[in-house]
Amino acid sequence: MNKLIILPGDGIGPEIVAEAEKVLEELRTGFGLAVEIEHAPVGGAGYEAHGHPLPQSTLALARAADAMLLGAVGGPKWDRLERSLRPEQGLLGLRAELQLFSNLRPAILYPQLAGASTLKPEVVSGLDIMIVRELTGGIYFGKPRGIRQREDGQLEGYNTLVYCESEIERIGRFAFEIARKRSGRLCSVDKANVLEVSELWRTVMTRIANEFTDVELSHMYVDNAAMQLVRAPKQFDVMVTGNMFGDILSDAAAMLTGSIGMLPSASLDSQSRGMYEPIHGSAPDIAGKGIANPLATILSVAMMLRYSLDRVDLAERVEQAVGQVLDDGLRTPDIASAGMRTVGTREMGAAVVAALRS
Ligand code: IPM
Ligand code: MG
Repeated sequence: MNKLIILPGDGIGPEIVAEAEKVLEELRTGFGLAVEIEHAPVGGAGYEAHGHPLPQSTLALARAADAMLLGAVGGPKWDRLERSLRPEQGLLGLRAELQLFSNLRPAILYPQLAGASTLKPEVVSGLDIMIVRELTGGIYFGKPRGIRQREDGQLEGYNTLVYCESEIERIGRFAFEIARKRSGRLCSVDKANVLEVSELWRTVMTRIANEFTDVELSHMYVDNAAMQLVRAPKQFDVMVTGNMFGDILSDAAAMLTGSIGMLPSASLDSQSRGMYEPIHGSAPDIAGKGIANPLATILSVAMMLRYSLDRVDLAERVEQAVGQVLDDGLRTPDIASAGMRTVGTREMGAAVVAALRS
């Protein structure tokens, strides 16, 4: 029996997670998925319930779980809190405490949604990129960090960008393994023309490449990678990069598909224990309106089945069910288009469950 913890979080989080739970329930009752589910607050919800974005009780449950499903965290209500109490710290804390160092962010253009991209159809049709982002190191966690007073009286902010060899090696090997299962091409993104950290990154990636002779490794500077992503994104298959570059490039890649409401993600440790979440945020502007797209969260369940629960068969069933509802013309407002039926969060979730049954 696998243990699963559900962290609805803030904003649209609870609404979209509720639909993913219906899918999980269907998998349990109809498809023999053996999971035990518990819920816990995180982010702003954690702060409201226990005065901290990552309550001790939530962390304890997370440590005992095989997988976590997270909605989203954050909202204007908590923006004025001191940094250590802001909702984002719940997310960063889970990543760090559980050593979820490998973040998989697929950017896939669903053929049914080809018109949703802001880029020309010929540039993006068939797009299928996997960004592998290092998630527990780099400038997000480097020390020292802070805001201090200089001798001349001015304040200065400072952060530290640091990666050691073993950190680069483990994310590198992870990315090579993934590239090996896909097209056999891996592009490592850095800023080696300016940063020593990137120089080491490049050296280590090149070294690991010797273990993966079936994978073709290339290197690209991050500024060029940003440009190439919007110029000719189909040149990429798997990209691997550090924490902050990955944060930025994965948003750009997601937008190429025009439907950020469709994209799931996985954050894994070295034992395939993982946290799964849609890559869109908490969208406070539409929270509570029943119009958020639950498909990214439902597809996050599919990733969970594939990477943590060892049920590739069910992952494929869920992905097929999502394809089915798109084929049937159902669209939430974020992916709405002429001639298609616009539905709300609940109706979309129910349609996926129905497609699973059929
Ligand atoms: C993401 C988000 C987070 C990050 C924020 C919410 C801390 O942007 O998951 O990409 O920067 O990693
Ligand atoms: Mg981000």
